[in-house]
Amino acid sequence: MEKTNLYGVHPFYLAMEDAGNAHGFFLLNSNAMDVVLQPAPALTWRTIGGILDFYVFLGPDPGSVIQQYVEVIGYPAMPVYWALGYHLCRWGYNTSDSTWEVVKSLRGYRIPQDVQWNDIDYMDQFMDFTLDSTKFATLPDLVKDLHAHDQRYVMILDPGISSTQPNGSYWPFDEGLKRGVFIKDAEGKPLIGKVWPGLTAYPDFSDDVTHEWWYDNLRRFHEQVPFDGLWIDMNEPSNFLDGSTNGCPSNSLENPPYTPGVLGGLLRAKTVCATAQQKQSIHYNMHSLYGLMEAKASASALKRLTGKRPFVISRSTFPGQGMYSGHWLGDNRSVWKDLYTSIAGMLTFNLLGIPLVGADICGFGEEAQEEMCVRWTQLGAFYPFTRNHNSINTKPQDPTAFSPLARTAMKQALLLRYSLFPVLYTLFHHAHVRGHTVARPLMFEFPKDVRTYGIDKQFLWGKSLLVTPVLEEGVDYVDGYFPEGIWYDYYTGDCVRSKGEELRLRAPLDKINLHLREGSVLPTQTPNLTLSVSSGQPLHLVSSLSDDGSASGDLFWDDGETVDTYETNQYAYIIFNVSKKVMTSQVLHSNAEATFITVESATFYGVKAKPSRVLVNYQDAQFTYRTNQVLTVQDLGLNLSQNFTISWM
Ligand code: GLC
Repeated sequence: MEKTNLYGVHPFYLAMEDAGNAHGFFLLNSNAMDVVLQPAPALTWRTIGGILDFYVFLGPDPGSVIQQYVEVIGYPAMPVYWALGYHLCRWGYNTSDSTWEVVKSLRGYRIPQDVQWNDIDYMDQFMDFTLDSTKFATLPDLVKDLHAHDQRYVMILDPGISSTQPNGSYWPFDEGLKRGVFIKDAEGKPLIGKVWPGLTAYPDFSDDVTHEWWYDNLRRFHEQVPFDGLWIDMNEPSNFLDGSTNGCPSNSLENPPYTPGVLGGLLRAKTVCATAQQKQSIHYNMHSLYGLMEAKASASALKRLTGKRPFVISRSTFPGQGMYSGHWLGDNRSVWKDLYTSIAGMLTFNLLGIPLVGADICGFGEEAQEEMCVRWTQLGAFYPFTRNHNSINTKPQDPTAFSPLARTAMKQALLLRYSLFPVLYTLFHHAHVRGHTVARPLMFEFPKDVRTYGIDKQFLWGKSLLVTPVLEEGVDYVDGYFPEGIWYDYYTGDCVRSKGEELRLRAPLDKINLHLREGSVLPTQTPNLTLSVSSGQPLHLVSSLSDDGSASGDLFWDDGETVDTYETNQYAYIIFNVSKKVMTSQVLHSNAEATFITVESATFYGVKAKPSRVLVNYQDAQFTYRTNQVLTVQDLGLNLSQNFTISWM
């Protein structure tokens, strides 16, 4: 809903000053608050509790402000490789067999898919840690089949635990009562609200005992359905009632002298009572931390269960969330406006240290129309987290549900994403170790160009890949802004020299415009149907030369799933430099994984004259040169774990 509080709380802002300078400001406070934008320019913050703990970040450029902020709140986790693949989900698959059919149908059309999800449909009466044993009887087999195809399975969990099952019949509630894990009302009894399964109690994730109980539940269910990741929803926490079945006491916590402008005008509206008691404090102070603490419990349980990097996607978020989970932007609608605003949402969460973010591709509520769904899949292929999700009682909107033309365009967009996996993975590495953004506003790279400040229809991956999606119906072109410099069409290598101009680009239905900024080397990969790192798909280096013929780039590579590979030195890191007609690849850190992968080709955009010879490691090599100044060297078979040079004269 617009003009009310959202799913998460992030008391942080980034502001641009004069001459490309920026600063940031963070109020580390979890209480209900207003933030009011003044015309001055100024902001007024009104919090109704807690400590006034302020941080000011001096930048001076916007990217540095974010690095400084993320250093304070915690660096985002390095995602498991398949987190960056294509995720397919919907509410209303109804059976495990119909879920399976969609997976098979994508395989049939050779559309990439790494992860299949289920919503609350898989549960018995929407109760966590249960399986509908008739409609979802084959779920364990589906998961086995996914694993056999290097695919993964993610399921939803809501925090609300059904409190109305006969005694002794529902372990999560019985055991939770025994261990005292639930949030208590003002009188000390478990507070009861209402979510999908009916009346529910809420686990108090501020208590370590609850983390252990959550893990035990996950472990028991994992024996039945060996899921790979978790989708944690309704964790604001959301309640269909205001407060509880018994309402809330009437006192100054429930009705403070001032109530910020929250939905419903009451702190307890659609959540639990402010006076509810948690281990660490009253809910009045803890409310905004619920999703963060649930994510922490979920990530640590998954790590224990799988021994791999945990995959968690959360609806509610708070500063520091990126250490434990990614985020989807919540319930949007299948309308063009929501396609457009998803860019601002994605960029915002990149500023907030939660780079693993995306909107529901093709929209959650309402019916997705074909053209819009194609455009959304193209944009979604550039969300750091790419999931198509749909509401109940709506027509299917996965790629196989549409005409051959639309389906092929969607497949192409996903293959393009898969081919860029090494770029994306390396960007996540820089987010993890340095607090860089992955999807990045143009102004981060061009802070002195004020025309970039308001751009919310284009964005960059890292410093150099410019994405210009179509966000409107019925057009075969798109207007995009190109900051001063040389830009190359990613597909053809055609060069555009911009003085800082808006350009009109051709954009037929099967094309998303991508441009490469001068001076970069992108490591791309032959796409496969999954991202499985062990498949060893060969690499292709794409270099875009500056006027002076230089370019640089890098690659982080590891086994894709071991925890803390960077921290424990189990990774490869390679830098690429082009200068004076010589490309050098330099292995700065080596690891066995890199020996399984080869560099098969290298393309150079902006080679001004046709070379007479090309040398690979000082040996003559075949090459092609096109009149649009593109040099390509193929069949290289170079081992990534060894330094090499490619030169031309
Ligand atoms: C919430 C979620 C949505 C999910 C639905 C059913 O509305 O935001 O993604 O499909 O609940 O679980």
